[in-house]
Amino acid sequence: MLRFELEAMDPGSKARAGRIATDHGVIETPIFMPVGTVGSVKAVHQYELVDDVDAKIILGNTYHLYLRPGTDVLKKAGGLHRFMGWERPILTDSGGYQVFSLAENRKLTEEGARFKSHIDGSYHMFTPEGVMDIQRSIGADVVMAFDECPPWPCDERYVEESMHLTHRWLERCIRRFDETPSLYGYEQSLFGIVQGGTVSRLRKESAEFVASKNLSGNAIGGLSVGEPAELMYEMTDLVTDILPADRPRYLMGVGTPENILNSIALGVDMFDCVMPTRNGRNGMLFTTEGIINIKNRRWADDFSPIDPAGISRVDFQYSKAYLRHLFVADEFLGRQIASVHNLAFYLWLVREARRHIVQGDFVEWKNEILPVISRRL
Ligand code: GUN
Repeated sequence: MLRFELEAMDPGSKARAGRIATDHGVIETPIFMPVGTVGSVKAVHQYELVDDVDAKIILGNTYHLYLRPGTDVLKKAGGLHRFMGWERPILTDSGGYQVFSLAENRKLTEEGARFKSHIDGSYHMFTPEGVMDIQRSIGADVVMAFDECPPWPCDERYVEESMHLTHRWLERCIRRFDETPSLYGYEQSLFGIVQGGTVSRLRKESAEFVASKNLSGNAIGGLSVGEPAELMYEMTDLVTDILPADRPRYLMGVGTPENILNSIALGVDMFDCVMPTRNGRNGMLFTTEGIINIKNRRWADDFSPIDPAGISRVDFQYSKAYLRHLFVADEFLGRQIASVHNLAFYLWLVREARRHIVQGDFVEWKNEILPVISRRL
């Protein structure tokens, strides 16, 4: 089981600075995890993730990796770390979310979810037990429980039944996880996922249920699915009051730099989101000066660095004008540079957040920086 240590608590908010120790290395929290769905962070080399972004942990996805390359190849490779040449920690999402967002012809039963592959139309069945076995084959350091993430808005009765199903699935995940060994000689840890939609009563019930399982970490799912940000914060606030303080808390699929800083203030330690890479590929850059659409004509002859205060190599090696040119010419390199830059920005942001939590002035820093990094240039 991974070890989590709290190093500092912010005096003005619920923010914490901590440290997660896994067999693949230590992760200082709060942390952002770049999304590497199919065993690749889109348009970014593994060495760039280490040298330019300094990512401490990345995400993989059970649904995608199971469909392609499949568990046989992953087992023969000796697990995902060796397959992709990544020696730092990996967390895999369980596929619950992707089955509901990507697969066609889903059919949900007590047993699990039957679905049609979005790749070749073949039919598959995910059960809590099967998903634990797949994540053993992938060999992620952190394994997520199989859950259902209901849409928003959603009928309250549906949310309640779905939450209870997720809870029963969690018990089956724990049983299977506990009775199977890790395959590659290092430890894996299981995180539970709190659901309950935007219904306070259900969120509270779900947080209490998941907390009672005494897992090595706990995630908050079912948010950032279209609900207003205020509701997301309200639910997160309520849940972090219940989840154990001595275990890492992971807010799944969140979010903008602003969402991340506000959720750190509510006591969240881990984040993942496709936004830095996906928006980067579309020419949207998050910088220390504000948000840039690099395709805009105004950057055509701006030879200043991509981000003058940025710390990544690409930030000062290339100018805004050059990056704009690459996007206008539809060059692959433009998307690569923008992805590296955005990830480096997200990692810089959580490192700075941590530094200010340790210093004890996180809230003042957050209030100062948010208007700057959120403005559109
Ligand atoms: N990613 C974003 N939200 C969720 C969620 O609710 N469940 C899972 N498994 N993954 C997510």
